[in-house]
Amino acid sequence: MTTRPELLLQAIRRLPQENRSVIDGTLSSSDFTARWSEILEGSTLEVRPRRDLVVAVGMVMSSIERHLLFDGELEGASWMRVPFAEALILDLTPSGDPPREVIASYVRGPDFIGGAAEWRFKAQVTEISSRYRDILEAVAPLTEPAAWSQPEAADRLRSARIWMETVRFMFLEQVRAIEAERHEFRDLLRGFFRGHRIGGVPYEGVNAAHEPGAMALDLVFGIADDHYRSYVDPLRRHLLAEDRAWFDQRAAGGSLLGTLGEVVGRPIQNEAVALRVFQIAQPWIRDRAADFARLIIAHSAASAAHMAVIRSVLQKDPSTTKTVTPPSLGTGGRPHEHTRGLLLTRQAAAKHLKVLLGPEDRGIREGGEAG
Ligand code: HEM
Repeated sequence: MTTRPELLLQAIRRLPQENRSVIDGTLSSSDFTARWSEILEGSTLEVRPRRDLVVAVGMVMSSIERHLLFDGELEGASWMRVPFAEALILDLTPSGDPPREVIASYVRGPDFIGGAAEWRFKAQVTEISSRYRDILEAVAPLTEPAAWSQPEAADRLRSARIWMETVRFMFLEQVRAIEAERHEFRDLLRGFFRGHRIGGVPYEGVNAAHEPGAMALDLVFGIADDHYRSYVDPLRRHLLAEDRAWFDQRAAGGSLLGTLGEVVGRPIQNEAVALRVFQIAQPWIRDRAADFARLIIAHSAASAAHMAVIRSVLQKDPSTTKTVTPPSLGTGGRPHEHTRGLLLTRQAAAKHLKVLLGPEDRGIREGGEAG
């Protein structure tokens, strides 16, 4: 016999088709809400913590919210129309998990509308997230000063840099592909990336900024400022339990720049110090410092390529289509100037570390915003 939870998971496969029917006007938002409310109500009969059901219920609620907002209702209308959904989702949520779909569960789970733009976004997030983890695993031993003098230190830093260059390439690929998919991504799909207040806690909409590897990079590299720390801390609540444990472990460990400072005997807090280090250090230290600088320059360039994605997808070719997630804001509600501010911090770090390169190398790409 098919259980209630399985019926919900079967039904969720119809979500893209039904969402598209609402978008094209062949299904009304009230019929959509009534149908899904009935399916969710059935699911309240067999409640036990299950991540896949949390994702399914969250995506249904985000869809209802999108459709009601589109019809002019107020923020949070979905939770008023389906009043038992909040208790249901809280009961279904495994301990330590967020009570909604988030980037990591969404990219592995069902689709909102399907189609090239959604699949490309999911594939890109999966691929880039995986590269971020590779980078962090490669450099992890370098938070111990002794590891910098090991022969493999050079390979670790260079592999990390090559993976970061791959990330940059993937963002630029997104810029190229998006010409055909801009409307689909910006005006249709993003409307489903809804923020919700659940159990009194505000959660942002599905957002690749909640990718744990991305959140950890600047901290592990040692280029994060206080503003960055206060920005990422509230993002932690959007991480799945195991991702939060993974992130916290990395955030609590030492940083590469801090450890390099220990290797040379003084903190490398600005360009002048970096230059002195380069002039007086032993050749092997200079070589490793140059490898590290190249990694940070590649990070800055990848971040610039992501900013080019934002410009190309959200800012170029303004839409005349009504949308409920304004292109001028991230799905976390932050203006693009905020994301650009993160890039500027990375560019400043890249500029200051560039002096660690040999003179012949100083012309390498630093992550200007072209792209
Ligand atoms: C169509 C493609 C994309 C668009 C339009 C886009 C747009 C945005 C926007 C608007 C923000 C700011 C979010 C906020 O502050 O609330 C953001 C942040 C972010 N996005 Fe994307 N993004 C796209 C693809 C990706 C992909 C594929 C990844 C890969 C993991 C990614 C990773 C990030 C990260 C890490 C941040 C945090 C900001 C930073 O560290 O620089 N994005 N994105």
